[in-house]
Amino acid sequence: MAKKLWKLRKSKIHGNGLYAATDIESGAAIIEYVGEKIKKKESLKRCTEWEASARKTGEGLVYIFDLNEKYDLDGNIPNNPAKYINHSCDENCEAINEDDNIWIYASRDIKKGDELFFDYGYALEHFIDHPCLCGSENCVGYIVAKSRRKKLLSILKKQAAKKAAKKKSKAAKKGSKKATRKKKSTKRASKKVK
Ligand SMILES: C[S@@+](CC[C@H](N)C(=O)[O-])C[C@H]1O[C@@H](n2cnc3c(N)ncnc32)[C@H](O)[C@@H]1O
Ligand SMILES: [Zn+2]
Repeated sequence: MAKKLWKLRKSKIHGNGLYAATDIESGAAIIEYVGEKIKKKESLKRCTEWEASARKTGEGLVYIFDLNEKYDLDGNIPNNPAKYINHSCDENCEAINEDDNIWIYASRDIKKGDELFFDYGYALEHFIDHPCLCGSENCVGYIVAKSRRKKLLSILKKQAAKKAAKKKSKAAKKGSKKATRKKKSTKRASKKVK
């Protein structure tokens, strides 16, 4: 039997995580992601429920994998340790769909004891519901697909500029109100002196 390449333990990033039980070479097959095969409609229902819960509690545990045009895979079953793999903006694994079987492969050499991560590939929509705590140098602050991260950074930059401009104009308005009040009180004082 092939040696088990992973072990399960608490993650610093979130809940449990999967870790390399040994040095792993780039390209090695680590674990299969198994689950319940569900139709897209049911999958959408489950994702919507989880996202609503994420908005309330900050904890939206999504275990759904896109399988094909008709079906998704809900990995939230007991015998699927792969469901504990967290996301990172600097991932070391890749999830590959091989004839509707999802396998997690090492996308680079991984050292024994390193946490395993793959790119969850989330769309930009609702990014705000999925803050990323991966802590990597490349972290963009939210869990989104690698291909969408540049766009996300530009959205965040625009949002920050808008916020700064709003703050500046609020401060300027406050300043001009103060100046008007001061002018009025100086006028009143000089009238009294006359
Ligand atoms: C498939 S679970 C991963 C396993 C999870 N750590 C657990 O203990 O069940 C996916 C959830 O883990 C959390 N998660 C995974 N990667 C994360 C990250 N980089 N930053 C913050 N939360 C993360 C999010 O709540 C996400 O919805
Ligand atoms: Zn990150």
